[in-house]
Amino acid sequence: MVTALAGSTIEAWSSPNATVANDPGLTQSPLSFAYSALEPSIDARTMEIHYSRHAAGYAKNMADAIAAEHATGKSLREMLQHISKYSTTMRNNAGGHFNHEKFWQWMAPGGTKPSSALVDAIQKKFGGMDAMQKQFAEAATKRFGSGWAWLIVDAKKQLSIGSTPNQDNPLMDISDVKGEPILGIDVWEHAYYLKYQNKRGDYVGAWWNVVNWEAVSLDFQAALQA
Ligand SMILES: [Fe+2]
Repeated sequence: MVTALAGSTIEAWSSPNATVANDPGLTQSPLSFAYSALEPSIDARTMEIHYSRHAAGYAKNMADAIAAEHATGKSLREMLQHISKYSTTMRNNAGGHFNHEKFWQWMAPGGTKPSSALVDAIQKKFGGMDAMQKQFAEAATKRFGSGWAWLIVDAKKQLSIGSTPNQDNPLMDISDVKGEPILGIDVWEHAYYLKYQNKRGDYVGAWWNVVNWEAVSLDFQAALQA
């Protein structure tokens, strides 16, 4: 989906780098499921507010920042990989846009199954899916304040788990956790507070029921080949 911005040709900079997969582009994509489709793990009202207000806001504010900072000719990934050269507004909103576009892709009603290649890699690195989920949940629940927890493929093509504050992500040059994000969970309160209040751990536990492992597996495969 491409929309025009005032004074800019977004088509020129919404095309992902041909050598880099996993670029959601510069505009908000339609959700592939209804707001209610992730019930009871994620309630419909939370999904509606999250997608139509919070995530839409990041996309709009990023577009405004691109225009204000003359960031033409850049893909979303290129901006994130060099985010230290941009404003804090761009960092927060380009990060927020990428993170949420991927977050929607990483969820599906009822969840899906991972590829055997991903299962094998998780087994080799963490000792099994349960152990990986435990470590991931710890990263999610221990992130102080707002942020994200991630499963990434690092520069050595190894799986790793970490977390980032605010709307930062592992693609950013300023991030302590660096790699290709293949799964992430939003632990901002706007992602869970209506249903779970302060029980972030319960939200993380229920979220596994709606993880779209098929999408995660495709991102894993792409990260290995990048
Ligand atoms: Fe969010």
